[in-house]
Amino acid sequence: MGYAVDTRCIHGEGHKTEDGNNAISFPIYQTASFSHLTPGHNPNGFDYSRESNPTRTYLEETISSLEHAYDSIAFSSGMAVIATAFEYFKPGDHIILGDDLYGGVVRLISQISTKNGYETDYVETSDLDALKAAIKPNTKAIYFETPTNPMMHVTNIKAVAEIAHSVGALVIVDNTFMTPYFQNPILEGADIVVQSGTKYLCGHNDTVCGFLSSENEELADRFRLLSKTTGATLGPFECWLCLRGLKTLALRMERHKSNAEAVRDWLLTRKDVEKVYYAGSGMISFSVKSSEHAVEILKKIKLITFAESLGGTESLLTYPYIQTHPDVPAEQKEKLGITDKLLRLSVGIENPDDIIADLNKAFESAS
Ligand SMILES: Cc1ncc(COP(=O)(O)O)c(C=O)c1O
Repeated sequence: MGYAVDTRCIHGEGHKTEDGNNAISFPIYQTASFSHLTPGHNPNGFDYSRESNPTRTYLEETISSLEHAYDSIAFSSGMAVIATAFEYFKPGDHIILGDDLYGGVVRLISQISTKNGYETDYVETSDLDALKAAIKPNTKAIYFETPTNPMMHVTNIKAVAEIAHSVGALVIVDNTFMTPYFQNPILEGADIVVQSGTKYLCGHNDTVCGFLSSENEELADRFRLLSKTTGATLGPFECWLCLRGLKTLALRMERHKSNAEAVRDWLLTRKDVEKVYYAGSGMISFSVKSSEHAVEILKKIKLITFAESLGGTESLLTYPYIQTHPDVPAEQKEKLGITDKLLRLSVGIENPDDIIADLNKAFESAS
């Protein structure tokens, strides 16, 4: 781990392509299968691309380098990662979940994973007393986002890890919003890092993928068994797209953040903005004076696109109430502030003056 993070975005641990042709860009090994020399003997260790593929391995090693992980697995989406993470648990286990999670995770728990027979409780994980009070004898994991999507609550990973590890529970952190460029949960005590690579890691709104990183060999072995068996691993071309995106992660994250800070400062000057939620990186949520105003702004933006997702070069404005969080129960949305007046902006890397001018025009013509 000798190189700085911006160098590791480009070179990982510094391993070179060994394809015999000295390619600078790691090749796309677009193959389903690999030939064997003799039964059970394949010198490079590749058999079948569901289990492993050289392009995926190169990407996974780069992600492990960035996340300070023992091992990382590239999946076909962030949700495939999270579904696999929950496969680790068994009937009777208790899992504490952060109370503000991406809506797809809430849907996974409420509509799919309940058949696995484990109990869950939603807790505001930044409230350490509430967290301690929620622990039960069968608590096996604490799972949370920091900052959260969309309310930007920040949890102290180190403090949660101390509490979890004192009762033998795992800490699972969704690092999608910060990325390993701004935050390394494993260095703070997390055991497992999950993230949607669709967002900042790939970074160009053109690829869906996800990563599961393990802190130790035992977890890594279990997740390797799960990923090769259930099979939602990432195809070689998407792996290559993500490798290409990662090369500019450092530059993009710096620009996303400085642009977001400029937009946040502008939002704070507006009388028609009720609240601004910002916790670093390129994501901002804000509430406006009415749901009609929110809908009008969504209609009036031109440079910024009204769309789901986040973390790409293009600025996207999202309506969490109906787009990303429809499956969160109404009372929970109300409690968190995910109302029909809330908008979530993924600030892209366009010129910040153009982003603000587009918002300004939309706000003015919407009021
Ligand atoms: C915080 C967070 N985690 C996980 C996911 C799921 O990732 P994917 O859309 O790549 O399946 C999302 C998607 O928006 C997200 O915002």
